[in-house]
Amino acid sequence: MEQDTFSALVVEEQENNTFTRTVRLKTINALPPGEVLIRVRYSSLNYKDALSATGNRGVTKKYPHTPGIDAAGTVVLSSDLNWKIGEQVVCTGYDLGMNTSGGFGQYIRVPAGWLVRKPATLTLLESMQLGTAGFTAALCVAALQNNAVTPQTGLIMVTGATGGVGTLAIMLLKRLGYQAVAVTGKKTAHAFLTDLGASAILDRDEVLVGKEKPLLPARWAGVIDTVGGDMLATAIKSTNYDGVVASCGNAASSDLPLTVYPFILRGVHLVGIYSANCPMARRLRVWDKLANDWKIADLARISRLVPLDQIEEEILAMIAGKTQGRCVVDLEKKA
Ligand SMILES: NC(=O)c1ccc[n+]([C@@H]2O[C@H](COP(=O)([O-])OP(=O)(O)OC[C@H]3O[C@@H](n4cnc5c(N)ncnc54)[C@H](OP(=O)(O)O)[C@@H]3O)[C@@H](O)[C@H]2O)c1
Repeated sequence: MEQDTFSALVVEEQENNTFTRTVRLKTINALPPGEVLIRVRYSSLNYKDALSATGNRGVTKKYPHTPGIDAAGTVVLSSDLNWKIGEQVVCTGYDLGMNTSGGFGQYIRVPAGWLVRKPATLTLLESMQLGTAGFTAALCVAALQNNAVTPQTGLIMVTGATGGVGTLAIMLLKRLGYQAVAVTGKKTAHAFLTDLGASAILDRDEVLVGKEKPLLPARWAGVIDTVGGDMLATAIKSTNYDGVVASCGNAASSDLPLTVYPFILRGVHLVGIYSANCPMARRLRVWDKLANDWKIADLARISRLVPLDQIEEEILAMIAGKTQGRCVVDLEKKA
């Protein structure tokens, strides 16, 4: 087994400081140590993967490297009694795909403590249509609920609406009876977002009107922000009394140009969302929600299945902010 080879996307640094991505054969014995070896059936493309695949040292320090922060598949070897050969498992976050060989390969070997049993009511495919993006969207929605934002409280703004986290946040909010206002830079995506359940669509520029002011008219009971920078700052300035802003991303910027006024005059709550090192008890609760009470029907509406050797264009499109919905990586399909 250890000598066996498998296909994986390998990102390599070239002499001119550029990074190339090639599907190559790797051997199982080259995988990092870990208690559980998993045959990966599906992975998915998240923004962090696109950064790792294009040489972002904040995500991945050492190359050659195989990205993929998400993986769903079957246990093939385990030295941990909690995991049996043949069990279907989901692995998202921790160090997977960052500095540990990730889900863009047909095998991963990981610590037993990183794994979640695939919920019975989700297929392996559904678990990766959700993946880190769906898990993070659910953490954001839970942050609204935990801070008393209900469907009756008012409108929820979702930024980066056509992205992985954005589309799944809109679908979850719709499922739970909230009215989601989608903010997008894609003029051609309005019908797509309405179809997913957005009650209104705003262009990015509309949201940024008045961004130089310390406070703006209060419009939002809650915000799910994947973008950061001016977008997050204006969202906070436009949030109503006791409203909740869940900040999970920095697709535009990691800056936050702001005064304290939204906090001290309106009691706005800014809640940070992290998924990679989410504690296991919370992780299991969130996966259980996604698989049952919050289950989204028809995830195929936002996802496409892409073989490993066609992921290159998806990665480049994601870095350019041009992708829509979720790209699921099929580790068994050939182009
Ligand atoms: N905290 C966590 O644990 C966690 C987990 C998952 C993701 N994230 C972060 O959340 C963000 C979204 O992740 P994702 O996987 O959903 O990525 P994604 O699918 O690429 O979606 C990002 C979306 O942001 C919008 N966008 C891109 N560039 C922009 C810009 N310059 N200005 C304004 N909007 C821009 C685009 O949507 P529109 O064209 O519709 O505007 C894009 O589709 C990333 O920053 C990611 O790192 C964090």
